[in-house]
Amino acid sequence: MSLQTKLLPLWFLLLWISSSTFMVQSKCKKGCQALASYYVWNKSNFTFITQVLNVTGDDFLSYNPSIPDKDRVPSFVRVNVPYSCDCLNNGDFLGQIFQYKFQKGDTYDVLAHTYYSNLTTVSLIQKFNDFPINNVPENSIVNIPVSCYCGSSQVDKKYGLFLTYPLRPEDSLSSVARFSNSTPSLLQKYNPNVDFNAGTGIVFLPAKDKTGQYPPLPSSSGLSGAVIAVISVAVVAVVIMLAVLFLHMRRKKKKKASLFLDNSGEWLGQSVQGSSRKTASSLDAGNRGVTVDKSVEFSYEELALATDNFSMANKIGSGGFGDVYYAELRGEKAAVKKMDMQASKEFLAELQVLTRVHHLNLVRLIGYCVEECLFLVYEFIENGNLSQHLRGTGKEPLPWSTRVQIALDSARGLEYIHEHTVPVYIHRDIKSANILIDKSCHAKVADFGLTKLTEVGNYSAPTRLVGTFGYMPPEYAQYGEVSPKVDVYAFGVVLYELISAKAAVVKQNASGPDSKGLVGMFEAVLKQQNDQNEIRKLVDPRLGDDYPLDSVFKVAQLAYKCTQEDPHLRPSMRSVVVNLMTLSSTTGEWDTGTFYESRQGSLVSAR
Ligand SMILES: Nc1ncnc2c1ncn2[C@@H]1O[C@H](COP(=O)(O)OP(=O)(O)OP(=O)(O)O)[C@@H](O)[C@H]1O
Ligand SMILES: *[C@@H]1O[C@H](CO)[C@@H](O)[C@H](O)[C@H]1NC(C)=O
Ligand SMILES: *[C@@H]1O[C@H](CO)[C@@H](O)[C@H](O)[C@H]1NC(C)=O
Repeated sequence: MSLQTKLLPLWFLLLWISSSTFMVQSKCKKGCQALASYYVWNKSNFTFITQVLNVTGDDFLSYNPSIPDKDRVPSFVRVNVPYSCDCLNNGDFLGQIFQYKFQKGDTYDVLAHTYYSNLTTVSLIQKFNDFPINNVPENSIVNIPVSCYCGSSQVDKKYGLFLTYPLRPEDSLSSVARFSNSTPSLLQKYNPNVDFNAGTGIVFLPAKDKTGQYPPLPSSSGLSGAVIAVISVAVVAVVIMLAVLFLHMRRKKKKKASLFLDNSGEWLGQSVQGSSRKTASSLDAGNRGVTVDKSVEFSYEELALATDNFSMANKIGSGGFGDVYYAELRGEKAAVKKMDMQASKEFLAELQVLTRVHHLNLVRLIGYCVEECLFLVYEFIENGNLSQHLRGTGKEPLPWSTRVQIALDSARGLEYIHEHTVPVYIHRDIKSANILIDKSCHAKVADFGLTKLTEVGNYSAPTRLVGTFGYMPPEYAQYGEVSPKVDVYAFGVVLYELISAKAAVVKQNASGPDSKGLVGMFEAVLKQQNDQNEIRKLVDPRLGDDYPLDSVFKVAQLAYKCTQEDPHLRPSMRSVVVNLMTLSSTTGEWDTGTFYESRQGSLVSAR
């Protein structure tokens, strides 16, 4: 391999970094405070405005000095309503999503043109909701997106607060300029290509804050986006060049000394191609400070012996990549996953990391073998997977308190890989078949880190979809957008499974209520009523009446939040854990905070 081919991945990285740096310009990075200009239509009043735009009386009055009393808001005037302007939808939407409970007789048209005084549009509402437009169920919560603006250092740094102003037929460029104490040319710069005489559409105007001043842009945005982009690309390029140089020199040095390990003791994987364990263990004898755990590599003979030659009798499962066998290895029960693929060097390095991630709620990777094909050796989890417990035959139904426990355990495992490992991981294939149950009915998340297998060394398709239908959030299924919120969504689906014992996967050609999938089925109930009893219809019949409705309802609500279409509206795994801890302390007697602390004490992080 020439140096150039070896550098190929680096060039891809460089390309990716530079392209994403430039892309940021069209996306928002952070939000700000904003004001909405609400035109008070004849039957509107302050009570109504609070309902639709969530504003408090004091806040409202402080931005409307000419109104003495919130209960005497005149009609047919504009009032200022403060709202928080957030960077939503992965930076695609700068705005706020208000929630409105749909009443009998409401339509999107009335919502946009009257209730929200044209601060939003019918098509925007449609974009943020998936109800059939002419058939929105009564009492469902409709998302009302209202856009906003935070200013631009390229136009003028003096202005950092903006009024979202829906144009009305009587408006013109000069009248709006007078209204906002600004000049036509400045307004036109902030709203390029907008016809202020059109009578409709939204414009953004510089606005005064509570104290009557124009607040300036925060100073951090002093550099223009383009300058930042250029600088960061330059910095990245220099860093990469240095790294390449460094790697190149180190490589030469290593060849001379014919070492398999670098100075930090990290194993670079060259020895893998040879026959393995011997090499690995003979290494550390002569090297100082070598920390490679030689126990992580197994030989093919050893695995074949331990699984009775991969016999059918030892087979305990099969997954997307290959079969899983029961093994007794060095006196320990193990599960050996045989994968019909060759692991790349990069993935072997990844495996080294994975073997060092320890957490009670993650299935531990004991080691691997790379002879013939790739074998992964895991600790054996006695009690099968969650899917089998919920839907398999010959298993006792799990009591509700155990289900909450399982939810909490898996949430903790996920929180750990999202926030506490170095590097952090996104599982991307959370589902009930990947949640294993141990003897004491505690849950462990399996298979984490494996998605890297499809990624590392596969530069041509870095965003290949891994995952299982029924558990994939829309942004991932449609655009391949990956974030920890992908796991949060899938976890929400697992919560629904714990309640209903129904499968997440939508059957093809399904019709009736099943065609919506588990998420749709629950949403139909949760969006419509706040009546807890409605949820009973969806509870696993095998639970009988043996469950606290209140707890079930709370888990359903949590799942509902986790499966929000907008990833930003989903909670983090950390807050899911907190939520479930509160729940479980009231649901069962076992898992209290002290237990959690003692478990935390045993964590060993990777690297
Ligand atoms: N460590 C383990 N201990 C006990 N059983 C296991 C273990 N790992 C896997 N299994 C069993 O083998 C089954 C298949 O596991 P595997 O992870 O290969 O497949 P999967 O998760 O169903 O699919 P995919 O490979 O697409 O993620 C699991 O559902 C489980 O029942
Ligand atoms: C405020 O407006 C709403 C909607 O038009 C109406 O139902 C309500 O009675 C009004 N309240 C007061 C105090 O006028
Ligand atoms: C909103 O816009 C429509 C159409 O332009 C107009 O008829 C309506 O009066 C506006 N509503 C308000 C409250 O200004």
